Amino acid sequence: EHSREITQTLSEFLLSTEQLLEVKKRMRIEIQNGLSKSTQDSATVKMLPTFVNSTPDGSEHGDFLALDLGGTNFRVLLVKIRSGKRRTVEMHNKIYAIPLEVMQGTGEELFDHIVQCISDFLDYMGMKNTRLPLGFTFSFPCRQTSLDAGILVTWTKGFKATDCEGENVVGLLRDAIKRREEFELDVVAIVNDTVGTLMTCAYEEPTCEIGLIAGTGSNACYMEEMRNIETIDGDEGRMCVNMEWGAFGDNGCLDDMRTECDRAVDDFSLNSGKQRFEKMCSGMYLGEIVRNILIDMTKRGFLFRGQISETLKTRGIFETKFLSQIESDRLALLQVRSILQHLGLDSSCDDSIIVKRVCGAVSHRAAQLCGAGMAAVVDKIRENRGLDHLDITVGVDGTLYKLHPHFSGVMHQTVKELAPQCNVNFLLSEDGSGKGAALITAVGCRIRQELS
Ligand code: BG6
Ligand code: GLC
Repeated sequence: EHSREITQTLSEFLLSTEQLLEVKKRMRIEIQNGLSKSTQDSATVKMLPTFVNSTPDGSEHGDFLALDLGGTNFRVLLVKIRSGKRRTVEMHNKIYAIPLEVMQGTGEELFDHIVQCISDFLDYMGMKNTRLPLGFTFSFPCRQTSLDAGILVTWTKGFKATDCEGENVVGLLRDAIKRREEFELDVVAIVNDTVGTLMTCAYEEPTCEIGLIAGTGSNACYMEEMRNIETIDGDEGRMCVNMEWGAFGDNGCLDDMRTECDRAVDDFSLNSGKQRFEKMCSGMYLGEIVRNILIDMTKRGFLFRGQISETLKTRGIFETKFLSQIESDRLALLQVRSILQHLGLDSSCDDSIIVKRVCGAVSHRAAQLCGAGMAAVVDKIRENRGLDHLDITVGVDGTLYKLHPHFSGVMHQTVKELAPQCNVNFLLSEDGSGKGAALITAVGCRIRQELS
């Protein structure tokens, strides 16, 4: 009997083609603001230069250490790249936990912990006495002045360590290595995860010129023409730009599409008012939007017999993996019910149907928004090159893209509809960003040798 009201509530999450085209158009404006000298200071989509001028050409080689910080897992990796006729990449890696109190403690504690993990890894590999070059995948917005210097603009997602914002993150890492007085490393490059993913994929597929992350956070990078990047000198060739599109909407330009629940999620986040687009389309926040809708529906008596349980009040209960399970088509309703039960939500069969619909509405909108953003990027590249038609590949990574049963399909479809002049191929990254960071480090080492 509440069916009409439920449909009504969820209709706020339905975006028409007109609205999606509007999102694409606004993204395009923000891209321009981030690239232009006169508007860059106030731009929300920051379009950060990465000092990576090309994708891999296969000549990269050597042994490298890589760090991968900012996604679901923190990893330390050893990457051995061999060039020539038989190109090979051999990788060894270990995952380490970063406790919440370290993510949100002092910067010194965070970087000491990172160096502690590197130390453990070097012991494990028996490599303490080799001074390896290192590529640091650091999945946060950094203002770079070179390949090996990046100032943290602001923490995003679940990190909030003190004394890091406004600091050169490579310096913080080097200082922590010195403090430990145990081993030496040569930090050659700092790399965003989107950029690492792009390079990982471009190593296999040269038409890959865009990197996309749909995971804990949401972001993209692509090869932009140097002449269009007014924030740095030089007009020749291209440079990879880390868009930081998660901050799209921070000037209010998406407010007409945000719902009460989006605002609630934002208000209770670590960085309220910031990363508004990311909060509508990435894994760290989708479950929270769902939870807020469920609370609202329970209050109105449509769900859980009107009883708001302690579980439902708990932040972060719906992780990406649960949303993905709940929405899986192979799952019978009884199984949805048992997942909810497992979370501590005592649900009837009707409740399960509603919960599944809510999850569907939220993840569908997320995929469409992400697709609208990508449509803006591919059309920008097409126009840069003065083409009527563009064939291009996007390298993608992230738990939402990989685990969710419908996200990728809806996103692909949206790009197709909103950018009909582009033929966009999506390539899933199998090896994470660490491999790409090592490839960038290899190029960095070569350039350094050529200069000396
Ligand atoms: C991984 C990358 O494969 O994907 C990480 O190596 C990246 O650096 C991650 O952050 C993004 O996915 P998630 O879902 O773990 O945030
Ligand atoms: C956040 C970070 C960004 C990163 C993305 C995906 O948006 O600010 O740097 O690429 O998450 O991990």
